Amino acid sequence: MNFVEAAAAPLRNTGDIKLHGPEGFEGMRKAGRIAAACLDMLASEVKPGVTTGHLDDLARDFVLDSGAISATVFYRGYKNFLCTSINHVVCHGIPTHDKALKEGDILNIDVTVIVDGWHGDTSRMYVAGEAKRKAQRLMDVTWECLQRGLAVVKPGNTTYDIGKAIQDHAERQRCSVVEAFCGHGLGRLFHDSPNILHFGQKNASVELKPGMFFTIEPMINLGKKDVALLPDGWTAVTRDRSLTAQFEHSIGVTEDGCEIFTLSPAGIHTPHTQSTDAS
Ligand code: MF3
Ligand code: CO
Ligand code: CO
Repeated sequence: MNFVEAAAAPLRNTGDIKLHGPEGFEGMRKAGRIAAACLDMLASEVKPGVTTGHLDDLARDFVLDSGAISATVFYRGYKNFLCTSINHVVCHGIPTHDKALKEGDILNIDVTVIVDGWHGDTSRMYVAGEAKRKAQRLMDVTWECLQRGLAVVKPGNTTYDIGKAIQDHAERQRCSVVEAFCGHGLGRLFHDSPNILHFGQKNASVELKPGMFFTIEPMINLGKKDVALLPDGWTAVTRDRSLTAQFEHSIGVTEDGCEIFTLSPAGIHTPHTQSTDAS
């Protein structure tokens, strides 16, 4: 290993799963809190007529004013603070000033910040105006999927248990789980081991241990699970163009469960259920 390689070594996904101590938890709390507060700030800004580019501008000001930096700007050529994924967009929708939200649009807003080297990665669903009934149901199911995944996180359980709990609920509600994207370890790295699949798959399952940090971020579709990538190389859509939803938390495994680093400081856990002021 030369000097440059040694310096970059902590910044590579080597496949080993890190177990973090109290300083890690403290770092993740700070990063998670700023990411979650950013999503709180956006709750009252999402309405018909607003562009996702404007939301991204607001997020940039909020993140930088908080003393954080963006994990997504410059990430593999990505240029924005947010991913804004509208209606049939599964994830990684790129904010734009060219198109305004329309009444009834649903969107996932995903933000990842870095504070003192630690990553806070979280997303929630929002509605411009009022959601149609089907869309509301999908968002409620997806929220519940995340809760069911979180509920089985404790030492001795496995990543399989998380995926199984999510898939069982989604399918019981006649929805499908996107398999093409998964949750991920994070910490000083943005996307680290292990992968957190949102469906039950026994091989590659990992036993959960105190000090593991990862995200759970199920993407749930009203139609089929298949996704397609748009020519911009980022935007993932449902292949059948059915509606899709996602929620994401960053968590740390504790002795008896987990700590959620990205809980909403303002209690706006489900912005998709808040009646929005259309004025
Ligand atoms: N925040 C996303 C995740 O949950 C990743 C976004 S990468 C970007 O892992 F480049 F598209 F922003
Ligand atoms: Co993530
Ligand atoms: Co994210």
